[in-house]
Amino acid sequence: MHDIMTAGRFRLVTTDTREEAALEAARAIRDHMETTDAPVLGLATGRTMIPVYERLVAWHRDDGLSFSRATSFNLDEYCGLAATHPSSFASYMRAHLFDHVDMRPDRWFLPDPVRFATDETAYDSLIRAHGGISLQLLGLGRNGHIGFNEPGAEATSRTHTVTLTASTRKANAADFPAGETVPEQAVTMGIATILEARRIVLVATGSGKAEAVRAVIHGPVTAQCPGSFLQRHDHVTIICDREAAALI
Ligand code: GLP
Repeated sequence: MHDIMTAGRFRLVTTDTREEAALEAARAIRDHMETTDAPVLGLATGRTMIPVYERLVAWHRDDGLSFSRATSFNLDEYCGLAATHPSSFASYMRAHLFDHVDMRPDRWFLPDPVRFATDETAYDSLIRAHGGISLQLLGLGRNGHIGFNEPGAEATSRTHTVTLTASTRKANAADFPAGETVPEQAVTMGIATILEARRIVLVATGSGKAEAVRAVIHGPVTAQCPGSFLQRHDHVTIICDREAAALI
């Protein structure tokens, strides 16, 4: 069961449960891949996306959904972790999507913190060389962050290195083995990089996201809530379960 309405500048899809929200997000990606010659996906990590990727993997396995024409660019990656570290976003993407679908291994990209130490323009250049992102999937931090663009992020920012807030590091600590700390820095697509995507789908579930969702939709456009910059884009769909939509 889901409702579709307009909220502020956005198309808003509200579902009863987080599973249904994930299903709606997966449908948006599937529909996009099936109707686009060379889809270029912008992909996100985080717990919200796990059931989204689960659904896409199931459709690939059971219904022949193919990723063979797709290219993908992930939003962000921690600094100081090898790609093979179990808590890297590269490992997350392999575990939840890439190792289970038919996307060519040379067609998926994550920002490489080592390379960015010498050339911060490389990732945006690579995205442009592939024709730009046709569909960007976004999660939402409790403090309104998108990618790892924390409060204070600049609207003109491109892929760059950021220092993570204590609250984000705490929120992500559960993804690290006991005794290991969350890196202090990460590389993330910037706000301007994200807003260049032709379409954006933001997914937020659970009551912990309700205040951030309200600020994204109805708050002022401000660096204090980086997600509010999405109000400057014409084609954003927000998919929420009832808990995340409670304050809209
Ligand atoms: C993380 C990621 C974001 C993600 C967000 C929400 O730190 N960098 O891309 O969307 O925070 O994560 P979760 O879905 O686990 O709540």
